[in-house]
Amino acid sequence: MHNDRITIEYTSYADVSELDPSDRSLIEHARTIASTAYAPYSRFRVGAVAELTDGSRVTGTNQENASYPVGLCAERVLLAALSSIAPNGAISKMAISYESDAVASNEPVAPCGICRQSLVEYETRNGSPMRLILSGSAGTVMIFNSALELLPLAFHPAHLGR
Ligand code: THU
Repeated sequence: MHNDRITIEYTSYADVSELDPSDRSLIEHARTIASTAYAPYSRFRVGAVAELTDGSRVTGTNQENASYPVGLCAERVLLAALSSIAPNGAISKMAISYESDAVASNEPVAPCGICRQSLVEYETRNGSPMRLILSGSAGTVMIFNSALELLPLAFHPAHLGR
């Protein structure tokens, strides 16, 4: 018997001014579109922007519903849009930001569990990792080199023999 430990790695920046210009532009885009989310129930608005390997961008915002479980997170709205518009589109990085009427948004928030699983599926499909750039409306930025970093022991297509 032995005990194991899994660690996750990320890089932290005090402010967007420390980022390289392309990362900075992407997270600022995510900050901007967060305000356009349809989130009248939680009043927690999330903006996600992906940069594809061809340099183009795809966006997603959370879409809520009076029947609460119908709502969709920004990340999965983005992935569904991309997958239908450009099925072969490969994501090189994704920036995710939020704003809230209830809490301060000066700390990054990481994608929920379902979104992590969806991001890992997309990464597997891409055949290459996507960088995740996370930040609130202001303050600290966290960068992960891969979605898998956020979901150790992820369930993979390989577990289905695929
Ligand atoms: N939300 C996202 O869009 N992404 C996440 O990763 C976490 C949560 C949304 C879902 C819901 O509309 C609101 O934030 C509050 O949970």
